Amino acid sequence: MSRVGYKWSVHRSLFKVKGLKGSIPSTVLYSPEALERMMRQYGVLVLKPSGGMGGYGVIRIGPQKKGGYMAHVNQKVNTLKNAGSLAAMVRKINSRSKTRYLVQKCVSLAQIGHQPFTVRTITQRKPGSPWVLTGWVAKTAGNGYFITNSRSGGGVHTVEQALTKSNVRRRRKHVLKELKEVSLLAARILGKDVPRLKEIGFDMGIDRNGRVWILEANLKPGFYAFRKLKDKSMYRRIMGFQRSSS
Ligand SMILES: Nc1ncnc2c1ncn2[C@@H]1O[C@H](COP(=O)(O)OP(=O)(O)O)[C@@H](O)[C@H]1O
Ligand SMILES: [Mg+2]
Repeated sequence: MSRVGYKWSVHRSLFKVKGLKGSIPSTVLYSPEALERMMRQYGVLVLKPSGGMGGYGVIRIGPQKKGGYMAHVNQKVNTLKNAGSLAAMVRKINSRSKTRYLVQKCVSLAQIGHQPFTVRTITQRKPGSPWVLTGWVAKTAGNGYFITNSRSGGGVHTVEQALTKSNVRRRRKHVLKELKEVSLLAARILGKDVPRLKEIGFDMGIDRNGRVWILEANLKPGFYAFRKLKDKSMYRRIMGFQRSSS
């Protein structure tokens, strides 16, 4: 039996928090029965290895209009004839994975043009001090991908720009406020019993109604997307915060 990775423990810490209700997509550990139940309930799902990173092994599945199912991996959309062949495929990827697969409701992400985007928020803290949101950046999916990880080749925008250009139907300042509050609350929960945890990077989804969703919490976040912004001041702020807290 493969390991239960960190994404599942993060989910278990966050989903029961009152203030985060409505921001955590329904998620379960894969089993054939769980997959069937989630499919009936949500239709479109994202499957991800609980210990994964970089968008590797992340698959979107759902019913197809003309019958059968689709499985979207990287730039490829495979068609599966029926529920049986879909179930067989998922069983196979789970059995080959080092960590157990998670089955998550797919959040219908807001888009800039035709590209879905997510927001990477960075929360940091100094010993004995509260968490601070030190940066955020919007990342679009590359052509043909649904994942927004940098290897998909998508672009970056400031979060303000992204919200203005996107099809989100909620006032920008309300979305910004929620992105900040949800990130900080989640950081406080995850950091509560782990004093050595100094930074967390969240992958936040935003749907067209401007609701904010925590898709992932990275306990060793990368800052590559911030380096790609023309204005490097946020990147410098994050680096400066890191130096002064070590
Ligand atoms: N529930 C979801 N709904 C929609 N898109 C998702 C969902 N979960 C993940 N994604 C997309 O897939 C990407 C990779 O998933 P993530 O959970 O961040 O794993 P990884 O550790 O591989 O980055 C996310 O950045 C996002 O673009
Ligand atoms: Mg991620």
